[in-house]
Amino acid sequence: MKTLVCTTPGQFEYQEGDSPVATKNHSILKIKRIGICGTDLHAFEGTQPFFEYPRILGHELAAEFVEGDNAEGFSKGEAVTFIPYFNCGECIACRSGKENCCTSIKVCGVHVNGGMAEYLSVPSYSLIHGEGLSFDELALVEPLAIGAHGVRRADVKPDEFVLVIGAGPIGLGIMEFARIAGGKVIAMDINDQRLSFCSDKLGVAHTINAMNDDVIERLKEITGGDFPTVVIDATGSLRAINNGFQYMAHGARYVLVGLQKGELNFSHPEFHKREGTLMSSRNATRADFEHVIASMKKGMVNPATYITHRVTFEQVKDDFKGWLDPANGVIKAMVELND
Ligand SMILES: NC(=O)c1ccc[n+]([C@@H]2O[C@H](COP(=O)([O-])OP(=O)(O)OC[C@H]3O[C@@H](n4cnc5c(N)ncnc54)[C@H](O)[C@@H]3O)[C@@H](O)[C@H]2O)c1
Ligand SMILES: [Zn+2]
Ligand SMILES: [Zn+2]
Repeated sequence: MKTLVCTTPGQFEYQEGDSPVATKNHSILKIKRIGICGTDLHAFEGTQPFFEYPRILGHELAAEFVEGDNAEGFSKGEAVTFIPYFNCGECIACRSGKENCCTSIKVCGVHVNGGMAEYLSVPSYSLIHGEGLSFDELALVEPLAIGAHGVRRADVKPDEFVLVIGAGPIGLGIMEFARIAGGKVIAMDINDQRLSFCSDKLGVAHTINAMNDDVIERLKEITGGDFPTVVIDATGSLRAINNGFQYMAHGARYVLVGLQKGELNFSHPEFHKREGTLMSSRNATRADFEHVIASMKKGMVNPATYITHRVTFEQVKDDFKGWLDPANGVIKAMVELND
């Protein structure tokens, strides 16, 4: 079968290899869609810490189930997706139902080879039924589940103001599920094109440009002086995360979905006087995947609008570099594999 291997930063190579065979507790998937995410772009650029090369990237997958061991209920040819975070099942996190932050987690396409291939073997426990969704939709379940998880961590209640900082694919998912939870979403970014996408495509009523607007004044105005009771970061920018503390209402929760390498720096008296709650949000659980699928089936999220670029598997090598440039307006690039 054909695979696309990231041999070293900046370098892709198509290689021919043996197709995987079903082993104990594993299933074989025939890949149909690969969504491209920031993680893949950073791995290609060489800015993903602790990343080892060569590596086959790709973890946002839609596929056909071929065969498997311990995969009762899945039938040949069925459209599926999967949870790409493989866990040990034994550590403290796994024992407490938090496999999403397993102490020895292996993320498919990051720590082990992923889905830029015609076929992939995955643990059968990771499979998710497609429930009649299209391959495009199924490939978008994982990035949306990241957002759904962040919103669940924040425990968003109806009519709360939820400030989402960062309107990339992850932030957009957070906005969708905050709205579904009944929250009143405020979108903040420094990119007007992305803010317009939030108001035009997602129906977000309030947008703030962190670079050009007086953020504190705008938040006061929108929330009637209260400030948002939920703030969620999806920028991964250290400056944005540190600034986020001052946007919290008294009693607010602050959830960090975005990831950055440095150390946080914030005023303890300011945080203390608010009795703030700070949380991180890592990956997503099966419950989040199911929530995303149920919401898609009800038409509450229409992720097709996120797909700005579409290529065949053969085109990935040539087109991938272009997706690194924000000027190309990429939200989600989707790779399509045909028979
Ligand atoms: N929690 C998880 O498990 C998980 C999973 C996937 C991705 N992530 C992280 O989520 C973050 C977002 O991912 P993405 O793919 O949407 O990234 P992205 O780069 O496409 O989006 C980030 C957005 O933040 C905006 N931004 C940057 N600095 C800003 C600032 N100072 N103020 C306001 N907006 C600012 C950018 O303009 C951009 O639109 C990344 O840090 C990524 O590593 C976390
Ligand atoms: Zn991803
Ligand atoms: Zn574990």
